[in-house]
Amino acid sequence: MKIRVAKSAGFCWGVKRAVNIAVEAAKKGKGKAYCLGELIHNKREIERLKALGMDFVEDMEALETGNTVIIRSHGVAPQVFNYLKEKGLEIVDATCPFVKEIHDKVTKLEKEGYPVLILGNPKHPEVRGIAGHIKDPIIVNSLEELEELPQFSKLGVVCQTTLNMDFFRKAVSLLALKAKELKVYNTICKATTVRQKETRELASQVDVMLIVGGKNSSNTTKLYQISKSVNERSYHIESKEEIDPSWFEGAEVVGVTAGASTPQWVIDEVVDYLRLLGEGGNWSGRGVCQAAG
Ligand code: F3S
Repeated sequence: MKIRVAKSAGFCWGVKRAVNIAVEAAKKGKGKAYCLGELIHNKREIERLKALGMDFVEDMEALETGNTVIIRSHGVAPQVFNYLKEKGLEIVDATCPFVKEIHDKVTKLEKEGYPVLILGNPKHPEVRGIAGHIKDPIIVNSLEELEELPQFSKLGVVCQTTLNMDFFRKAVSLLALKAKELKVYNTICKATTVRQKETRELASQVDVMLIVGGKNSSNTTKLYQISKSVNERSYHIESKEEIDPSWFEGAEVVGVTAGASTPQWVIDEVVDYLRLLGEGGNWSGRGVCQAAG
């Protein structure tokens, strides 16, 4: 009986970088360090950062001059950046460089005269930040919405870094029928592609699959959907407390993966708890190994 943990589980490079930048700003920044929005979509990590002296605000108007503001990995629209600057705040920019590349791409597409379509969730901060770089973004989050689009003579396309690859493929095939000239940038982050691929593979090889991460994390939710599509016994949990031992009845192998915003210590807690369950006879999990990438 085994526990297999996906190699790609947990923080991606961009989130690790943002957390390090933010912790540094909390120590050395001017005044108090505030993060605009949750630094990452993980309640427990947010609590840890608060304990380090960082605070989180949703409303930028609440920020007072003389303090430090951290821009999280999702990035923001230029208008937000300018507002913070004019307000006299020290800005620490932890936008993921891969997200910045998308900002550059949409700006370029607009300059070249392409209407720009963003595939992604219009409410997601990353998508809002990308959209803020251009005048008339078209944001689409489902194939149904795509079907309803008119015909274009030319169209430029980018996508949210955490978009589901299957959706991206289907969307691009559909768009090929909607525009005479189509310029598509696949801006799904490699970390996302690898994580989704590993999740699909691992979920198809194990009896039970646990996906660890915030319920408000879009990339974790996507991993759960992918896992569930190949393995009915898939569970999305935020922490070990949510685990129900009955999930593992008759299971020989349990797979574990986690979203890009799930800290390693949360994953470790889950794996340790699974081990304990095995030892206590509730479930017979014994060894832990890392799933092949
Ligand atoms: Fe950046 Fe990719 Fe992570 S875009 S924040 S490295 S998922």
